[in-house]
Amino acid sequence: MPDGITRRTALCAAALGALTSSLAACGSAAPRRTGGTGTAKPGDRLAGLADVPVGGGVLVDVPGDAQLLLVRPEEDVVRAFDPTCPHADTLVGPPSGGVITCPTHRSTFDPATGAVRRGPATGGLAEVPVTTSGQDVLLG
Ligand code: FES
Repeated sequence: MPDGITRRTALCAAALGALTSSLAACGSAAPRRTGGTGTAKPGDRLAGLADVPVGGGVLVDVPGDAQLLLVRPEEDVVRAFDPTCPHADTLVGPPSGGVITCPTHRSTFDPATGAVRRGPATGGLAEVPVTTSGQDVLLG
């Protein structure tokens, strides 16, 4: 080791280099998904009907780094919502315990209609038209 550089100094420099690499990796994280239809077109398959539980729902990825929330309040009814919370744009998840809850400020939404039940959100989730064809759920 050169004069003036202790083993401790060398270890600290190595640790700093590793930390810098980690921070750089954080800055180039994968693109954040947004709610909505992305680049999907009407007629594109979103999911299998069996992927959407009756009385529940599921987030599905759509082309263009977007996601839609599919819900199935009844056996024969499938709806889709843009999962973007109208309060401050957090993506909500599937219904749980009979309600859709925003993880950021805890607004709640009706899982069958997307209507707001409790604020701070003042509006509901935007519905996106979908249809079913056989065992598939299609953007409609
Ligand atoms: S972002 Fe959803 S309640 Fe605030």
